[in-house]
Amino acid sequence: MKKIIIAIDGFSSTGKSTLAKLLAQQLQYVYVDSGAMYRAVALYVLQNNLTNGSDLKTDQLIHKLPLIKVTFENNKVLKSSEVYLNGTNVNEVVRSMEVSNVVSIVATVPEVRQQLVTLQQQIGRQKGIVMDGRDIGTVVFPNAELKLFMTASANIRAKRRYEELAVNDSNLSFQAVLDNINLRDHLDSTREDSPLFKANDAVEIDNSNLSKQDQFEQVMKLVNSKLES
Ligand code: CDP
Repeated sequence: MKKIIIAIDGFSSTGKSTLAKLLAQQLQYVYVDSGAMYRAVALYVLQNNLTNGSDLKTDQLIHKLPLIKVTFENNKVLKSSEVYLNGTNVNEVVRSMEVSNVVSIVATVPEVRQQLVTLQQQIGRQKGIVMDGRDIGTVVFPNAELKLFMTASANIRAKRRYEELAVNDSNLSFQAVLDNINLRDHLDSTREDSPLFKANDAVEIDNSNLSKQDQFEQVMKLVNSKLES
């Protein structure tokens, strides 16, 4: 059976990873969360005091890049891949607000992007992958057979993310999540290297009022038409 690359880009908290995981499961493809890779580097930055708030010590980070190894390993119990930073499972901690608050600054650094994009392209060599992020259809896999671009209103996205995070963080405010989403959207869309934008050949999906199931079925039709062509 023909194998393709499915590239899913879009704004923060648009449900890219939920959709990507469902597709990977259905198609028996490998799912790669490229955002988790940027988050792992951002965690390294925090752990090594390479930032004072939004002030990133860029030169020091670039110097340390050869020491930052980001990998994925399969969790056999949960049947999902989890991100590791230098051999330690950081899958949970990379989703924290502390990491969210610095990740988009870290992701503006071209040397960081270069290192992670090379890794992403290596993983994709075998095809049969679903990767989500911000530049997957534009930079990482410009020839991906299927490109999706996900959007939803900022309020709906913040509500989804707040519900996800509040379970483990009772001090979290909705406003903090909304502010972070708006800030990251802005940083991601305006940065010089590989900004977030919809590729010409990407299919846009606004899922503000679309159920997960309806969205999945809609996308599976697109996938099947690519597999048959
Ligand atoms: O899940 P969420 O939408 O919050 O974001 P993510 O996919 O985990 O990505 C976190 C951040 O990493 C984004 O806001 C971007 O700044 C950066 N990122 C990127 O620059 N390029 C990618 N391919 C993926 C993520």
